[in-house]
Amino acid sequence: MLAHVGRRLPRRSPLYRAALGAGLAGALAAGLLTATTATAAPTPTEPTAQAAAPDIPLANVKAHLSQFQAIAQANGGNRAHGRPGYRASLDYVKGKLDAAGYTTSVQQFTSNGSTGYNLIADWPGGDPDAVVMAGAHLDSVSSGAGINDNGSGSAAVLETALAVARTGYRPDKHLRFAWWGAEELGLVGSRFYVNSLSSAQRADIDGYLNFDMVGSPNAGYFVYDDDPVIEAVLKDWFTARGIPTEIETEGDGRSDHASFKNAGIPVGGLFTGAGRTKTTAQARKWGGTAGVPFDRCYHSSCDTTANINDTALDRNADATAHAMWTLSSGTGTPPPDGRTFENTADVTVPDGGPAAESPITVTGVPGNAPADLKVGVDIRHTYRGDLVIDLVAPDGSAYRLKDSGWDSGDDVITTYTVDASSEPADGTWKLRVQDVHRYDSGHIGAWSLTF
Ligand code: TRP
Ligand code: CA
Ligand code: ZN
Repeated sequence: MLAHVGRRLPRRSPLYRAALGAGLAGALAAGLLTATTATAAPTPTEPTAQAAAPDIPLANVKAHLSQFQAIAQANGGNRAHGRPGYRASLDYVKGKLDAAGYTTSVQQFTSNGSTGYNLIADWPGGDPDAVVMAGAHLDSVSSGAGINDNGSGSAAVLETALAVARTGYRPDKHLRFAWWGAEELGLVGSRFYVNSLSSAQRADIDGYLNFDMVGSPNAGYFVYDDDPVIEAVLKDWFTARGIPTEIETEGDGRSDHASFKNAGIPVGGLFTGAGRTKTTAQARKWGGTAGVPFDRCYHSSCDTTANINDTALDRNADATAHAMWTLSSGTGTPPPDGRTFENTADVTVPDGGPAAESPITVTGVPGNAPADLKVGVDIRHTYRGDLVIDLVAPDGSAYRLKDSGWDSGDDVITTYTVDASSEPADGTWKLRVQDVHRYDSGHIGAWSLTF
């Protein structure tokens, strides 16, 4: 079925090898690789399956759109370059990524007399010489909140990035996500980013996937006709579900992928249509209304949360995740839950004195701690009513486990459950125990963290 695509794939491109490893192109290239596959013996003990992309929850994507809408409302009705709504949008996205364990950076530039910002988020790990990148412009025009253009792409890319963290995905390639400033002024932020890279850094990017307008109310399903591997991987998601696609023709070079393409980087992307009118043939195959624009609110004040086709947004977000997983060729699976780290060294708790602390260093747990982090404590003491107990996260934030109060019992031997989902798991955690009154004493005997 995909054999015609296979014939025109540049077989030596890095993305081609990733897609092959992922099994997608395995079928389309089977004819070319018979000798290899016939002799390769399966190794039953090794998990060789490519981790499948998760379904991206539409509700999560829409929650980001509601936040963008609220940000616009609180900032003069837009999220445009040089306006406070832009920076607030960036801070919102950055906060989510930082909490999920991404390494983020904010890149500044100047355009039209105002400071602009790009947000770049790297998922730790993967081959640094093989970067798979997804991006979306985060700025709106000044006439509205820009929820379809381009809250939709921004939210789809954000939720894909958060899904990487949630599932503990360990891609073979390095994943990078980006949100561009000042696209509406002429692809300014993305061009600034590409220009800021050395030629070696540009060569390290295997591909850039662009998402600009992916929830148009009268949606079409358009795939960029650029790099054939990216195009095939994106199309594959729709084809597998019987959804017809067309090649994107409403202005090649009208979004941030052009900045990458101009530098010789392979690009692709998805689009559900802007100001152009849906034809009768398109309405017949996709539904919606012929004779009206794909997005009648394009660049106008009615581009609000009401200007979104949920089905289109959901499909495009899922296709985004599918492409990022497939192209990065991860063979990792989420680490098993229930890994326990403990410290069994005795630490004295001074009587009516300063707090005692016992550390546990956690490594190799990707993403954040769970919402039900289990904190096992074994504290030996002669009067537990005197004890105040906190769990201290690697960044210093404290979670109160127990307050002092009238309680003449002795030891504290129990397990607390903590919602630590905003804390990266890796790092040094501490159990902090303070005896706030005199006349009784004890020690931390042991404690543990179970992820
Ligand atoms: N980039 C345009 C904008 O933000 C929208 C757009 C028009 C577009 N034609 C496109 C995006 C083709 C991607 C592909 O206003
Ligand atoms: Ca979904
Ligand atoms: Zn626009």
